[in-house]
Amino acid sequence: MTTAGRPEASDPALSGQAVSASAASDPAQSGQAVSARVAAAPAAAAPPAAERVAAVRAEAVIDLDAIAANTRLLLNRMRGVNPRAELMAVVKADGYGHGAAQSARAAVAGGAGFLGVATPEEALDLRAAGIETPVLAWLWPAGQDIGPALAAGVELGISSLEHLTAVLIAASAAPATQPRIHVKIDTGLGRNGVGIGDLGAVLDAVAAAERSGVVHVAGLMSHLASADVPDDPSVAEQTAAFREVLDLARSKGIDAHWHHLANTPAVLDHQDTFFNLGRCGIGLYGINPVLTPAGLRPAMTLRGTVALTKRVPAGYGVSYGLTYRTSAETTLALVPLGYADGIPRAASSVGEVWLGGRRRRIAGRVAMDQVVIDCGDDPVAAGDDVIVFGPGDDGEPTADDWAQACDTIAYEIVTRIGPRVPRRYVGDLGGPL
Ligand SMILES: Cc1ncc(COP(=O)(O)O)c(C=O)c1O
Repeated sequence: MTTAGRPEASDPALSGQAVSASAASDPAQSGQAVSARVAAAPAAAAPPAAERVAAVRAEAVIDLDAIAANTRLLLNRMRGVNPRAELMAVVKADGYGHGAAQSARAAVAGGAGFLGVATPEEALDLRAAGIETPVLAWLWPAGQDIGPALAAGVELGISSLEHLTAVLIAASAAPATQPRIHVKIDTGLGRNGVGIGDLGAVLDAVAAAERSGVVHVAGLMSHLASADVPDDPSVAEQTAAFREVLDLARSKGIDAHWHHLANTPAVLDHQDTFFNLGRCGIGLYGINPVLTPAGLRPAMTLRGTVALTKRVPAGYGVSYGLTYRTSAETTLALVPLGYADGIPRAASSVGEVWLGGRRRRIAGRVAMDQVVIDCGDDPVAAGDDVIVFGPGDDGEPTADDWAQACDTIAYEIVTRIGPRVPRRYVGDLGGPL
């Protein structure tokens, strides 16, 4: 086996099938020739199953050590300003596509004291995986049954009087549990969170609920709109607004321990936003959303295996719509990953993969299950390893490169990798590399 996962003539997977000198010496043809012989080989010639090389169609290899190290780096950044600061590891959306429970464990190993998710269901999934770390869920409709989440000790974000009322009702049905809530305030993002106009009334009601002992106000939180935009004035404006909210809450007798505003870009670029808890998502996974170098290490490598190669003549149309035509006789390589796996269709004719020791552009449209790479006369063959994106160590594209090519953000590139792509966990916290 080569490191690229490509069967060689000496591979046990191919033993029993003669590889002719002519096929082996014609690199552009050898993959097809070998595949054809494998298909035609008598069953008796096949090696025992345990000896066969298991080529994966596709997989996302997740480096858990990288997640732990990134967590530590972000936490240390907070602690450099406030030695008592803590980090909430945001593992919503299946840990931004990396696996929620595995990412959560790695982040906790890296020092995270809290977990953050959008929905109560995501928090319950973490509990079901045996994770007992405090977890906050901040996005839920006030009509939702939050009893199971409260029973599991999930802390809930409160964005309106209706949310508070829902918590009070659920708490009255289970008086033994005292819900821990974080009041989420919209300081200028214009999205989730209590609007400034409603803030006085909501804080009054929250203070009353806490005085009566029904809830405990664990935190006050807000979310930044543009911490990743260099010199954007909204960061300072939202930070000032958040300080005013903290003063107002204090004046109403609310003494929440946790004050949290900073996301990854803010932890990397805006110390004034730190308070005593940072909520970091994308940075855990090693993607840097700001221009300041930070030393984060991308945790996900998306890879696959060339499923087929074929020689085609000049002028040959490739993939749906035939939007790409070969300029000369060439080898086309079929990579069995498509938009159903999370490869953006917007990558058609612009996304690049690492194949045969260099970057190559996708030829034509991304289909549901596959993309095609025009490899010219290079010796690319079925069974070759393809890296769609990774840390970039060897020159392979990164998720950031893909985001740029597809006019989106790396958050979307990693999060959209679909469930059909198995995750394989590596590193000391995972398994062998
Ligand atoms: C409320 C909230 N806090 C924190 C985060 C984490 O942000 P980032 O991934 O930029 O660190 C998110 C992510 O969208 C969020 O919605």
